Amino acid sequence: MKNKTQKSKCSLLQKDKLIKKPVLQSKFNKNYYFGNIYSNYDEFLNWKEVAKDLIKRFKFNSFLDIGCGCGNLVKEIKKQKGKSADVYGIDASDFAVKKANISFVILADCQNLPFKDNYFDVVFILTTYSYLYSISDVRQAIREAYRVSRRIIIFEDVYDIPDKTSDNYDSCRQQFFSRKQWASFWKTFTKSDRIEICKYIGQGRFYNTIEIHKKYNNKKYET
Ligand SMILES: C[S@@+](CC[C@H](N)C(=O)[O-])C[C@H]1O[C@@H](n2cnc3c(N)ncnc32)[C@H](O)[C@@H]1O
Repeated sequence: MKNKTQKSKCSLLQKDKLIKKPVLQSKFNKNYYFGNIYSNYDEFLNWKEVAKDLIKRFKFNSFLDIGCGCGNLVKEIKKQKGKSADVYGIDASDFAVKKANISFVILADCQNLPFKDNYFDVVFILTTYSYLYSISDVRQAIREAYRVSRRIIIFEDVYDIPDKTSDNYDSCRQQFFSRKQWASFWKTFTKSDRIEICKYIGQGRFYNTIEIHKKYNNKKYET
């Protein structure tokens, strides 16, 4: 017989929306996360500190990481919050999801999230949408993130025009917008008090726009 937790998880997940054939398997492979682009994804961020910071600042019971890579952040959040927290990550990379090797990291497309409406207190998106093929894909992904979120969406994406001569040039990236442009896409769907357009400053900390301006002490910060 199913216990209460199992029952609620079953009703949360919309199984018909799970990816059957991994769409991006060939691009986001082992070489992507542990070679060419990230030399070692496990050490890309200080996952423990990022988790600690997010938990302290946003006080959530449910959390979704959209495009969670190998699941490092959600695993750390789950570890720190304990069993009671509902934590999920989704990614379209078969390699990443297999590497995560945990039930709460799921193979799915950010344009078709397998979760019911308004489920998550916090939805986190870090450089995932720049990999989508068109603006209409970006809009659909934003719509989906908004649909499943109840409170806050934390968003950071790619703002710079890519330098093709750089060592870590990522040819998979498709969409480049300034911070202001990304913010304006979000505004179409959600009120600004529900979205934090952030920047990772290092040492496990994301800053929102006000904090960035303070940190840079009113020096012009590129938006
Ligand atoms: C640059 S990585 C970022 C990973 C993680 N968010 C981080 O910052 O460490 C981009 C991720 O987006 C995922 N991704 C790309 N297109 C996606 C899609 N349509 N749906 C879900 N995930 C996608 C890739 O598989 C990859 O793991």
